Amino acid sequence: MESFWNTVPKPFFALAPMADVTDPAYRRLIAETGGPDVTWTEFVSADGLYHTREKKGMKDDENPLMRDLLFTPGEHPIVAQLFSSNPEMMEYAAKLCAELGFDGIDINMGCPDKSIEKQKCGSAMIKHPEIAVEIIRAAKKSGLPVSVKTRIGYNTEDIDGWLSILLAEDLAVLTVHLRTRKEMSKVAAHWELMPRIVALRDRLAPGTLISGNGDVRDMDDAKQKIAESGCDGIMFGRSIFGNPWLFTSRKAEDISPQERLNALASLSRYFDGMRPRKSFHILKKHIKAFVVGWPEAPELRTKLMETSSVEELLELLSQQKESAI
Ligand SMILES: Cc1cc2nc3c(=O)[nH]c(=O)nc-3n(C[C@H](O)[C@H](O)[C@H](O)COP(=O)(O)O)c2cc1C
Repeated sequence: MESFWNTVPKPFFALAPMADVTDPAYRRLIAETGGPDVTWTEFVSADGLYHTREKKGMKDDENPLMRDLLFTPGEHPIVAQLFSSNPEMMEYAAKLCAELGFDGIDINMGCPDKSIEKQKCGSAMIKHPEIAVEIIRAAKKSGLPVSVKTRIGYNTEDIDGWLSILLAEDLAVLTVHLRTRKEMSKVAAHWELMPRIVALRDRLAPGTLISGNGDVRDMDDAKQKIAESGCDGIMFGRSIFGNPWLFTSRKAEDISPQERLNALASLSRYFDGMRPRKSFHILKKHIKAFVVGWPEAPELRTKLMETSSVEELLELLSQQKESAI
């Protein structure tokens, strides 16, 4: 099968997986606003997909894991991010994602969450490279291009050890969040290490693309980091908060208050349409991020944060349209 990675623009700009942030509702809004070159879903448990669908017989439209894998046509190319330490489960979930029309599979090997690490998933893979290799090989049975998103080491930087093991697996893409597991997100991302990673790739796996991740603010910052480090693409995470215009040529500060509120209203409607439903409080982090940047924003934000349903939120937003902001 021809991999979409062969035809993606170079350099490429990708949307990071972010649990409860880049969900189907926000991904749809980002795609409609002017999306990235490649979109990632939030991480989804491969074991969970197997158990809910095959063991419990849960219907797909009642299954929160299947909801997290929904996407609109405008989001292509789209990569499903999965996690598992069980090769059979990974194979099952990766094949399912191929049937669902995904363009690629990504494996999470960087999440520091204790509950994920307990399952020998996420960052725990760095301590169990033999499992990581088996999981990559299992995902490849889907026929989709396989990528990995990871960190530079567990307690200390281990580019030569850990990343070499991954690069030996002929991955389509290796995304490196330039911090160790121990560093969480507390220190600045180590962009100074990226040239070494690129040189390692050139030596071991010239066909694998390297995507850099960590603290990239906007497109200008991304282009500068690519020029300085030689990586093939950038994955944006937190800079997408409140800024679905990130991948367009528009600057966040040039977006009018009304446009920001309109975007929040669209997001709220898409959020309301997801099945099964998600708790309303998840939408609140978007309210906080969207309603910023003009003198009256703090007062309005407080009022919007006090709402308790999408209906109430939309009503308040529509009143804003009538009154001058
Ligand atoms: C709320 C939140 C959820 C995240 N969920 C995921 C996830 O599901 N999978 C993953 O690989 N990384 C996840 N991450 C990590 C981001 O993808 C990214 O690696 C990290 O935020 C650093 O990039 P940034 O500085 O551009 O945000 C998450 C981060 C945040 C803040």
